[in-house]
Amino acid sequence: MSNPSLLILPGDGIGPEVMTEVKRIIDWFGAKRDLAFDVEEDLVGGCAYDKHGTPLHDDTMAKALQVDAVLLGAVGGPKYDNLDFSVKPERGLLRLRKEMDLYSNLRPAQCFDALADFSSLKKDIVAGLDIMIVRELTSGVYFGEPRGIFEEGNERVGINTQRYTESEIDRVARSAFELARRRNNKVCSMEKANVMESGILWREVVQKVRDTDYPDVELTHMYADNGAMQLVRAPKQFDVIVTDNLFGDILSDCAAMLTGSLGMLPSASLGAPNADGRPKALYEPVHGSAPDIAGQGKANPIACILSFAMALRYSFDQGDEAARLEAAVEKVLADGVRTADLLGEEGVTPVSTTGMGDAILAALD
Ligand code: NAI
Ligand code: MG
Repeated sequence: MSNPSLLILPGDGIGPEVMTEVKRIIDWFGAKRDLAFDVEEDLVGGCAYDKHGTPLHDDTMAKALQVDAVLLGAVGGPKYDNLDFSVKPERGLLRLRKEMDLYSNLRPAQCFDALADFSSLKKDIVAGLDIMIVRELTSGVYFGEPRGIFEEGNERVGINTQRYTESEIDRVARSAFELARRRNNKVCSMEKANVMESGILWREVVQKVRDTDYPDVELTHMYADNGAMQLVRAPKQFDVIVTDNLFGDILSDCAAMLTGSLGMLPSASLGAPNADGRPKALYEPVHGSAPDIAGQGKANPIACILSFAMALRYSFDQGDEAARLEAAVEKVLADGVRTADLLGEEGVTPVSTTGMGDAILAALD
């Protein structure tokens, strides 16, 4: 059997710096765990524009559709801010998401004990927190028609439309229930069925998917505004949360910040399962290209490393190896190793991007 395949797209700014550490970790799994990947590397974002005049070359797009998983660093930077909208770096990322049809966006909010002091919430509310928000990513109010700014009488009106089909709700619900089965069999679905018809349909369809195909998973429903309150009041009551594009955008950012630094946050975007049951998948840190620290060896590589851990778990069925990598990160943090973005205590000297990679590799050994 051939090795599983990975397309690596480091991108711009700190993207290549953090990805260098991930590549060392990928090599470690090949050498020490007999888990080798066929890795290809290519350009996305500003660097692709510099070379090809487009932020995503058709050949790169074709590769992304073929491989088992794509791992992306970050795109963009001030150098590209004045480019035409059609060739802006983020268009490369948007094209990947669209053509891979990545409708299910997984955003974990996980609190490493060693960093619990970083949260804006009390330590006991966040210590040990481990929840996953599943955000619908390809439909809803960001895409619904009609949309636009129109003349109406003597003033203008701005219009966006929240629109969900049953099949769009069905597939993201399935993605959440599948995920729940790999975790603690518990899903909370959030909408506003009290004031939105799309929310009524959302609630109905999610319940039906659960009753028909996932009776083993516990399902509750919550209005999204209450969900926001509960997330900051008692976040540990949740395990998997599934919600629409708009509520998911806000709730996932809120949940992520319960746990501290942007340099720690991974994400996954999953699409339809292919013939062997593996979903199309793109893994990337939540942070951007951080031009303010790019090229200085200061970037925290953990968000990108944890994104690879998600790939191990969700694309390659290597949950144990993912846990091994996460435990190595946990150990390094517990030992007090910190990149500059994680400095809280006085008198701690930060390690470089490479230094953090070294420490995690040592912990893996
Ligand atoms: P950003 O996430 O790049 O940076 C925000 C702040 O967090 C900066 O102070 C940065 O130094 C810090 N930071 C981010 N990641 C870090 C890490 N791994 N280690 C240590 N510190 C880290 O967001 P910003 O500044 O809004 O955007 C910068 C550029 O990135 C823009 O061109 C933007 O369009 C792009 N961007 C790209 C994204 C992507 O590729 N998915 C997502 C967000 C922004
Ligand atoms: Mg957001």
